[in-house]
Amino acid sequence: MNGFTYHNPVKVVFGAGTLVQAGAEGAKLGKRAFVVSYGDGSVAGTLARLKELFAAEGVETQEFLEVVPNPPIEMVARGVEAAKTFGADFVVGVGGGSAMDAAKAVAAGVLYTHGDLWNMVYASHSHVTAQPPEKALPLLLIPTLPATGSEMNMCSVVSSTERRQKSYIWADCLFARTAILDPELTYSLPPFQTACGAIDAISHVLEIFVNGQPKSDLLHEFQLGVIRTIVKNLPIVLENPTDADARAELMWAATCGLNGWASPGDAWTPMHQVGHVLTSRHGINHGSSLAIVMPAWMTYHKKIKPAPYERFEREIMPIADFKAFIRKCGVPVTLSEKGVGEADIPGIVEGVKTVSFNADGVLASNPPVTAEALAEILKLAL
Ligand code: NZQ
Ligand code: ZN
Repeated sequence: MNGFTYHNPVKVVFGAGTLVQAGAEGAKLGKRAFVVSYGDGSVAGTLARLKELFAAEGVETQEFLEVVPNPPIEMVARGVEAAKTFGADFVVGVGGGSAMDAAKAVAAGVLYTHGDLWNMVYASHSHVTAQPPEKALPLLLIPTLPATGSEMNMCSVVSSTERRQKSYIWADCLFARTAILDPELTYSLPPFQTACGAIDAISHVLEIFVNGQPKSDLLHEFQLGVIRTIVKNLPIVLENPTDADARAELMWAATCGLNGWASPGDAWTPMHQVGHVLTSRHGINHGSSLAIVMPAWMTYHKKIKPAPYERFEREIMPIADFKAFIRKCGVPVTLSEKGVGEADIPGIVEGVKTVSFNADGVLASNPPVTAEALAEILKLAL
């Protein structure tokens, strides 16, 4: 088992109905709450309740409802200006990964002193020039979509429309002070978003399971446990969206999948690096991008490094069944379903090279992935 340093300061309030604690938790962070969320009404009820809960505690609210999936840095910049003008004491992210990540980037952007906000981003792994933020306004995160684990980690994933790139900010100051995980807020999720979130959460532990350290009983049990929990509960909520127990299981599984517990001593996200390019170049949403990459990646690597893939097949299900499971849950599993063909593969490989290949000219993975291997994997995903 590898050694590690682990630090996670996020206070988690978990359970059905816990949104009611948001007022009191917010009041501990300041008097002026800058709320970052979507503007098209999908979480409007939650936002209205939050405003009342804050008002009851004497906290003034300003909403910034411009979040769209894969938050662009340009939108973050507008949020930063609005938060400064308002004189925000703290930032609240309400929504899925995009809303929480936007809130994190705004909270850091307000105090950022290294120029262009894109400087915060690890936009090229081969020569890291990022200048991560050192400070951020306090954050309260309220997920409404179990998927990314953003509520309990130090990452914010942002995009640049101009550069056609998507990458991450990684900094200690991005940990929330408090996360309120109320599964009731997820009952309104449409089946597609529910399934995409669940598949994303599976990918977070699967990446580590197949690429990480080969010897670690507890970590492997933890990773497989997250996957089993999702595979069991996702079909239940797709059948009955208000199943309280299954919604709660999905929510906690997604948080635990990317809060560091399943991966201390390992940090592998090669499938995500490919997924990010499918999003930035072809507009494929995050969960679908992983649903497309995972089966192809597994099929390719099983021949090279069978052990973890065979264990996945023994203890979860065969790779072909996994692909069928994802499809049955309503998420695309091939590039062609998203209108991406063989002629697009060189561009995708180039996109991954630009952002995610390291100084050795490969995608960090175990084993490392060359441009040729990546093209083969993408062919398997057609
Ligand atoms: O567009 P509308 O109709 O508003 O739909 C919203 C939203 O656009 C809908 N939604 C969210 N909660 C809802 C709801 N609809 C009804 N009821 C609710 N309770 O879901 C749509 C998608 O939301 P989004 O925030 O984009 O989804 P997700 O949570 O999948 O986040 C994806 C983003 O997170 C990043 C991804 O790259 C992507 O940008 N990630 C962040 C990570 C992190 N911070 O650690 C790690 C992840 O691997 C991931 O990269
Ligand atoms: Zn993800």
